[in-house]
Amino acid sequence: MNPLAPPFRSLAQTPPGLEPLLLGELRALGIHGTALQGGVRWSGGWEDLFRTNLELRTASRVLVEVGAFRVRALGELERKAESIPWGGLPPGPLRFRISASRSRLYHEGAIEERLRRAAARVDPQRPIEGAGAGGEGPLLVVRVHRDELTLRLDSSGAHLHQRGYRVDVGEAPMRETLAAALLLSVVGTDPADDLPMGSPPASLLDPFCGSGTLPIEAALWSRQIPPGLASPDRSPRAYAFTDWGGAPLDLWAGVCANARARILEPSGRGIRILGSDRDGRVVEAARRNAARAGVSDEIEWAEATLSRCPVPPEPGWVVTNPPWGGRLGDRKRLRALYGALGQALAPGGRFDGWGIALSSGDPVLANALAQGAGQSALEVFRTTSGGLPIQGIHIPGPRTSGALREPDGPG
Ligand SMILES: C[S@@+](CC[C@H](N)C(=O)[O-])C[C@H]1O[C@@H](n2cnc3c(N)ncnc32)[C@H](O)[C@@H]1O
Repeated sequence: MNPLAPPFRSLAQTPPGLEPLLLGELRALGIHGTALQGGVRWSGGWEDLFRTNLELRTASRVLVEVGAFRVRALGELERKAESIPWGGLPPGPLRFRISASRSRLYHEGAIEERLRRAAARVDPQRPIEGAGAGGEGPLLVVRVHRDELTLRLDSSGAHLHQRGYRVDVGEAPMRETLAAALLLSVVGTDPADDLPMGSPPASLLDPFCGSGTLPIEAALWSRQIPPGLASPDRSPRAYAFTDWGGAPLDLWAGVCANARARILEPSGRGIRILGSDRDGRVVEAARRNAARAGVSDEIEWAEATLSRCPVPPEPGWVVTNPPWGGRLGDRKRLRALYGALGQALAPGGRFDGWGIALSSGDPVLANALAQGAGQSALEVFRTTSGGLPIQGIHIPGPRTSGALREPDGPG
């Protein structure tokens, strides 16, 4: 069996809690997948594999299944693993990432050792990791859950949140995939659909922009630039599948060319995107990052505190990741900051008429925001980032509605 022959049983991974957004993104690509914890699964060919790697904003990796079986003992594992088509995997020493849960087999090191032994018997020519082995070989992601083992080949290479533009970072940069999730929770996952709030927001504003992740992701989305083409000349970032040897690279070039042809002109959707921060150095870093993503023309930057940040006259959405999680003594100051942000949304405030979408790891601060605004906050997702729990919160403005609300039924 050739593991690199389609149809592939593919899996796009995302941090748990973001699956509904990923499912929506895949649907927009015409792929109808099945959500499972931490990802969405589907069956498809090379084009789907290329497009998902290039275009998904909330996925962290795209994997292809190369073997699956039930297993309850190490001897059984080694025997059954001989049926995996090791010799057909891309060249180079094998790398494994193993996780096991709710299974008889739980020792990840022992699982890896048995898999390596089986692989060495079936494919003795393959170099072993270490001196003289050459470049990085294929990464195999192995999951054992309820005694079912699934072995998948990574097609992405570097994690997909690494778009390539964010070289300069501030103190607590957020992952690009989380920033995209927060943004898509407002604007929807399918650019062809009517936007969840009826019409596009007039403006998107991040008054705590740090290194600019949210405004940059908003600018990429607004011009329909795939995250994989977030570069000044719209050349793609690196992907593992280009080193596989068997991948149809002419088709890959065509997928990139089609995606480039769909990119809208600057300000294509007529949305104003603003980023500000009180720290002038991070604003400069954000500017440089935006230039590297090829979206300098899309974003208006300012060095300003929350109370002085520029606010366009037409209400839109504040989409932001304010500071949180400081030392104990900072909590009081942070509560005051979130309270002030909430008050700015209240009638007569600077953001009167605006909606807010915010990611935070501290429910107490989210409450301070809601109290300041005099409205209740809607949790639109709950996920983790860097091992910490994170909530996505909305307080919709008076002319907007929560994006994850079910659409009205017919009649
Ligand atoms: C969690 S970081 C934002 C990180 C950003 N999303 C990124 O990806 O780089 C919070 C930012 O809020 C800024 N900040 C803190 N208090 C502020 C205030 N009162 N007004 C404006 N900016 C503030 C900090 O300088 C910091 O850059």
